[in-house]
Amino acid sequence: NIPKFVKIVEVGPRDGLQNEKASVPTAVKIELIQRLAGAGLRVVEATSFVSPKWIPQLADAKDVMAAVRSFKGAQFPVLVPNLKGFDAAMACGVKEIAIFASASETFSQKNINCSIENSLQRYEEVVNAAQKNAIPVRGYLSCVVACPDEGPISPSKVAFVAKKLLDMGCYEVSLGDTIGAGTPGTVLQMLEAVMEAVPTKKVAVHFHDTYGQALANIFLALQMGISIVDSSVAGLGGCPYAKGATGNVATEDVLYMLNGLGVQTDVDIMKVISAGEYVCSHIGRQNSSKAAIALRRK
Ligand code: HMG
Ligand code: MG
Repeated sequence: NIPKFVKIVEVGPRDGLQNEKASVPTAVKIELIQRLAGAGLRVVEATSFVSPKWIPQLADAKDVMAAVRSFKGAQFPVLVPNLKGFDAAMACGVKEIAIFASASETFSQKNINCSIENSLQRYEEVVNAAQKNAIPVRGYLSCVVACPDEGPISPSKVAFVAKKLLDMGCYEVSLGDTIGAGTPGTVLQMLEAVMEAVPTKKVAVHFHDTYGQALANIFLALQMGISIVDSSVAGLGGCPYAKGATGNVATEDVLYMLNGLGVQTDVDIMKVISAGEYVCSHIGRQNSSKAAIALRRK
């Protein structure tokens, strides 16, 4: 039942870098994005048009997009929390955006300073504005398994908000295990509930790898027919408003598994490894991808 083709959504330049304390030079971000697109990744999330007080690392979104907007061969979506962010993104020639809601009330307050209900109202305005400009919108949903404050989140709540995002006009919804707490047991229950409410082909999975469960969870999602997987080069990442959460599953590790399964991605794993080494050397981080380290040793 595993899909023949999987679309990888590379979130390293956004999710991967948003948590870095030391400011990463804009030129490094731009080159990273270029290298990732050059590796065959068709979607590379480039940055966020959020408040620079909340995410200082991405305060250079405008400068990043000034370079990236001319890159060909991939989509370069950006995160947008409100109309202000949408207008700023449009002024920079952004062609695709993503909105980000939560299945946890507490996380919604901590991450975007409003309730789930208010966020959905706000996002409806953003989606309407996007549709007027023929801009596709991806929807993110955080804390789909657990919230750092509230603990386990009910699968029915996840399904409810996921459906809201799609009904609003998002073309796909990415289910985020923000703190990487899920196991194939809890993820199965969550995905079953979501897939009862929305079409499988519109569901993406977004696993942080805090507990080393991400690949197992992805394999489960593939077996359930899901064919869109978010990942981050070199396993970079984390959310500043989800304490203790580590990076996303590494793109290289996902590719190694998909290659082994004979699933097509059109992505060159060795080029992704080079991109990961490039960014790690510039930000002084160890590579979190086991496949990257192992393939270099060969
Ligand atoms: P707020 O403080 O409630 O906003 O923040 P506000 O509307 O009251 O405005 C306050 C100030 O922010 C004003 O400036 C606004 O102009 C400014 P001041 O007058 O004080 O100088 N402002 C903005 N500036 C730039 N761009 C904007 C913008 N909006 C307002 N778009 C807000 C609310 C949503 C803005 C804030 O909470 C925020 O930016 N949050 C973003 C947090 C974030 O980016 N988190 C990480 C991404 S989510 C994630 O990582 C999870 C995911 O990976 C999936 C998963 O793993 O679960 C997607
Ligand atoms: Mg994330």
